[in-house]
Parts: sequence; structure tokens; C-alpha cells
Amino acid sequence: MTTDLVSIELRKAGRSRIEEVDFNNLPFGKHFSDHMFVADFADGHWQNLQVVPFSDFTLSPALSSLHYGQSIFEGMKAYKNEEGEVLMFRPLENWKRMNESAKRMCMATIPEEIFMGGLEALLRVDADWVPNTPDSSLYIRPYMFGTDTFLGVAPSKTYRFCIFTCPVGAYYTKPPKLKVETDYIRSAPGGVGYAKCAGNYAGSMYPTLLAQQAGYDQLMWTDATEHKYIEESGTMNIMFVINGKLVTPATSDSILKGVTRDSIIQVVRSWGIDVEERKVSIQEVIAGIEDGSLTEAFGAGTAVVVSPYSLIGYEGKDYMLNEVPKESSLANRIFNFLNDLRTGRSEDSFGWMHKIV
Ligand code: COI
Repeated sequence: MTTDLVSIELRKAGRSRIEEVDFNNLPFGKHFSDHMFVADFADGHWQNLQVVPFSDFTLSPALSSLHYGQSIFEGMKAYKNEEGEVLMFRPLENWKRMNESAKRMCMATIPEEIFMGGLEALLRVDADWVPNTPDSSLYIRPYMFGTDTFLGVAPSKTYRFCIFTCPVGAYYTKPPKLKVETDYIRSAPGGVGYAKCAGNYAGSMYPTLLAQQAGYDQLMWTDATEHKYIEESGTMNIMFVINGKLVTPATSDSILKGVTRDSIIQVVRSWGIDVEERKVSIQEVIAGIEDGSLTEAFGAGTAVVVSPYSLIGYEGKDYMLNEVPKESSLANRIFNFLNDLRTGRSEDSFGWMHKIV
């Protein structure tokens, strides 16, 4: 098969597993579609571009990325409109960010035509897996890891780039409770916080587990130097509504530049609402909850979409966030706007939707 962009070999699964999936009950990240896209980087170029049945890899025990962590990924989503067409949301932003992560981790970068060609070929063959049930979508996981077999800390010379997909429902089934983390850090200036590398997630698991054992769902990371300013949450960027303005931590080399975050900022500005990207101290947030000037706090990300928080825990005290009526909630307005845009129910005024043809 030849896609519009690059030549990709297609080997189809003998039997589809789609009948085994209940599309009205889609836990996050548990069901994998029939196929995956795979490409290998060797001898200085990408080769063996294939769409093949979703299946295991055979890996060397000495695989460099298992030891030294050259492993990066992206998260993106595809949707179906009422005509049954498949639409991706801002895929080039993920391609750009993946290459920023690759550069920071000293890995091969991926040409646009391979990233987009692989995505398009995969979504064409697995188009039936894109849900059209409410609040569902096809989560897309592009990722890349070093495949050299050696011991010793040096960049791999070979890489595998793979994309697989999962039909998913909501990431959080109820508003999460966030704990402000002031002991552990996710990232520090000069580090890899802005890169979507596997190690950032591994490092967050132990502090998150401690928070979960204390009754919270997720962490709100603070800056590495003073533990004074809010950074991000690991699964999402963080946004507040304070005095009617949308306020969010400015991105830096320790915060992931979320595509959903950027989209929300553009949408909210287009509505004439002020947006402030700046340092946000935890003291400002707590004071805002206490005096009522902070009316909403929510996470923004591909997986979580827009997720209002139910409480914020800080230094042993829980601060409840009052549920805002749907008609006056900015988070709800943003969620509905993005949902209508992504499912083709409203005009794509930003030119963000990419149709698979
Ligand atoms: C995403 O939002 O796509 C992420 O990668 C976050 C992860 C929690 C699934």
C-alpha cells in the first residue's frame, strides 16, 4: 500500500478483535486496536515502515533503552463526526513535541511524512475502532525507544518508532483530589521536565502512590527550588479561574507544553476572557479558595481532556472546591467547545482538525 506521504507496507490481521470490546464501557488504555505502525531507524535513516497486527516485540535483554531510558512518547486522540469520518486533533503539534523530546534525549528525530504517514495509514485500517459513543475517542500512542544492544551510557544508534491505538472513555471517572507535593519533585530547571520521556512518569509514581495512600488521586507538583509555585500534574497541565480570568502556570523547561493547554488558552482568549500565563503560587491558590476569588481548578490534557478538581490538599489540610453550576462553569464551556469541535458538530474555526481520507 502507498499512502499519500510515504510507502508503507500493510499486513492485515487475520481476524479483528473488535467484537470483544464493549464500546459503551471503555476503561482507559485497556483495549488495543487490531493494528500498529512500526518503523526502524538504522544506518542513519528510517526504514521498514509497516502497518502490522498489534503484537509483541522480541527484545534483547541488553536493549539500551531498558537500561538507560531513551524512551519518549506522545498522547493524541482521534474522533468520529456524525458522517462517520475520522478526525485527528492538531497532530502536527504532537509531532513537533515528539521531536523536541527526541532532541533532549539525544534520539533520532522523525520526519513529518513518517509521523503523519504512519498515523494516517494506521487510522485508515483501524477506522472502525474510533468510537462514536459519548465522551469516547481513540487514544493514539506514538512512542520511540533505543534498540541498540550494549551496556554503557551512550546514545543508541538505532531506534524503533511505533504507534498503536486504544478506544477510550474518561480517564478520571470522578473529579480528582489533588495533593500539593512539597517534598518530592517531578523536574528541575535544566532537567527534562518539558520532554515527554518515560523517566518523568517513572519518577512520579512513588510520590503519587504515597498521595493515593493518603486518599488523593494525583499530585500538583511544585517548583524544585522553593516548593512555592505550581508546575503541572504529570497527567495534565493545571488551570484556575481567579476573579473571572483563566490563570495557568507559564511553561518552562520543567513543565510539559500541553497541546490541550495551548488550545484552551487560544479558545478562551477568542472568547474575550483574559488569560494569564505566569507563576502561580500555592499561597495565591489557597487564599483564592478561602476568599472565593478562585472559583474553578481543573486539569487539561489529551487523556484527561478537561477535569475539574474536587479538592486540593496542602500541608495536611484539604481545601474543597465548590462544584460550579454547569451553565456558569468555564471548564464546562471549554469541554463542550472542544467536544463539539472534535466531533464535527461545530465549525473548525481554528483549523485544528485533520481529516483522515
Ligand atoms: C496524555 O494526556 O496523553 C498523557 O500522556 C498522559 C497520560 C496520563 C496518559
